[in-house]
Amino acid sequence: MGHKHHGKSSASFLNADEILLELNLEGNENFLDAGCGDGFVSLKAIEKYLPEGTVYAVDIFDESIKQLDDYKQKINIENLINIEADLTKGIPIDDGMIDVLFMLNVFHGFTSENRDDVINELIRLTKDDGKIAIMDFKPFDMQVGPPTEIRISPSELEDIFKGYNLKKVYLNEEIGAEFSEGKSHYLMIFKKE
Ligand SMILES: C[S@@+](CC[C@H](N)C(=O)[O-])C[C@H]1O[C@@H](n2cnc3c(N)ncnc32)[C@H](O)[C@@H]1O
Repeated sequence: MGHKHHGKSSASFLNADEILLELNLEGNENFLDAGCGDGFVSLKAIEKYLPEGTVYAVDIFDESIKQLDDYKQKINIENLINIEADLTKGIPIDDGMIDVLFMLNVFHGFTSENRDDVINELIRLTKDDGKIAIMDFKPFDMQVGPPTEIRISPSELEDIFKGYNLKKVYLNEEIGAEFSEGKSHYLMIFKKE
């Protein structure tokens, strides 16, 4: 399936507050963290930004989902739903349930073969007026992240999503870790047309 990042987390070089503030959450949304890894963004969202919302933390890697189970047992939180599932095959959540679908450092890992399945699944899960927020590495060499040649530039991402009638409504190209070439990431938000 082309993805080799199981168990990786961006927690050591990205700041969950910086990211979540971009999403202008109201506090009661259904939020899905697609390819959540250790869930550092999901947990921050629950703790600070979504007191009345629900966070679905989804990953294909069973260890990551199990760690979130352990966390839930220690701290009594009812609005974190952790799900082990494959985005290329389908997530067991009903159509149109999600207000904000978030994907951090995951999209670059899908191949042109399974990308179509993933994008259609993101569309199925998201409400008609919901947001799909994709944050990924900019395509320049840096100490963190995947090989530069598999990274996707903001304009490529915009073009790919345009093919699914997803319209770019927001772009921040100066987000993430600081390197001499600039910030490591971009964050693009799409809505259904
Ligand atoms: C580089 S890690 C990023 C994790 C997290 N979003 C972060 O930034 O800390 C990529 C994550 O995507 C998950 N992943 C890869 N392919 C997936 C798939 N088909 N379905 C669900 N999760 C997947 C991996 O298991 C891994 O946790």
